[in-house]
Amino acid sequence: MKINKDYLNLSENYLFSEIASRVKKYSAEHPDKEIIRLGIGDVTKPLATPIMDALEKAVFEMGKKETFRGYAPDRGYEFLRNAIADVDYRKRGCEISPDEIFVSDGAKSDCGNIQEIFDKDNVVAVTDPVYPVYADTNVMAGRKIVYMPCTKDNGFVPELPAEKVDILYLCFPNNPTGAVITKENLQKFVDYARKNDSVIIYDAAYEAYITEPGIPHSIYECEGAREVAIELHSFSKNAGFTGLRLGYAVVPKALVKEGVSLNALWARRHATKYNGAPYIVQRAGEAVYSMEGMKAVQKQVQEYMENATLIRNALTDMGYEVYGGVNAPYIWLKVPGEMGSWEFFDLLLNKANVVGTPGEGFGKCGEGYFRLTAFGDKNDTIRAMQRLKEL
Ligand code: MLT
Repeated sequence: MKINKDYLNLSENYLFSEIASRVKKYSAEHPDKEIIRLGIGDVTKPLATPIMDALEKAVFEMGKKETFRGYAPDRGYEFLRNAIADVDYRKRGCEISPDEIFVSDGAKSDCGNIQEIFDKDNVVAVTDPVYPVYADTNVMAGRKIVYMPCTKDNGFVPELPAEKVDILYLCFPNNPTGAVITKENLQKFVDYARKNDSVIIYDAAYEAYITEPGIPHSIYECEGAREVAIELHSFSKNAGFTGLRLGYAVVPKALVKEGVSLNALWARRHATKYNGAPYIVQRAGEAVYSMEGMKAVQKQVQEYMENATLIRNALTDMGYEVYGGVNAPYIWLKVPGEMGSWEFFDLLLNKANVVGTPGEGFGKCGEGYFRLTAFGDKNDTIRAMQRLKEL
């Protein structure tokens, strides 16, 4: 028996598990301290009423012989895929059909699993800093990874890779920096992929947080993207499904490599390894696209963005250099002086009892930066800023 030695190339702990374990240890040693958590991007608002109503109704359906449902269809129920194709794509002028949509238990699973349909010898490009799942899952698979630095000099938007790469992961609005990409810049990546026979995995988990006009909500707004891009979406950040679990991947039929349809490959993988998101959760997901659902979800997003503004303003007043938080629920700040980002994490935890995420956890270029999330409770966010002021 031999283990997969590629796993030994991973850092010892997953970033958010490492943070959770440091916080747990601190709490155990200081049971009297009240900790405010602005670290992991987990939502704090309960599910909106139209979503809860749909969920409840579906739960009762499951308890009656006439309306009970067993295994869900491999790609997800049509009622949900139709709603996604209509609202997220057709209404935005993008041509995506329901049979190009694969419903899943979340974008994290999809961005971790999608690499399975690609050969081990592909070279993968990820940004630095990066949401660790893109890099870690490719390390597990033994692929070569190249990094596209995102610094304040390039506005945290990467340059095109200098060498030829086969797979590129992009996430905009970005986790962790909160940066966005213009349509013109995104088109350059699409053109690069078309020229180099590459595939782009585009993580659009935070698109609901775009507040400024003219910023692309989907990579399919770019010309030719259907031939080179897979797009991932989450219901976690816009509608609060972090605990329910729901997401979807778009694999266009025009995406054909070596004569093979990636839509067909992903369908095969999905059918073999996945039995579908629960019926009740897909019904809750459908409610996100109803008129009342959209209104409720938009209100929650707006409220989180008020936290983002609050954090941005407070930090700016304190003299911090601040990025993000305008079209994204993440605020990316430069840590003071020469302090390391884990050092700043410890300082905040110990002296202010506030948890954030050290930039270095997202990659080398994240060193010297720190991420705060706008997903906290409003009063907690205000109190956290007050504690930072008193540091
Ligand atoms: C984050 O904090 O970066 C995200 O919540 C992680 C995730 O969505 O898995």
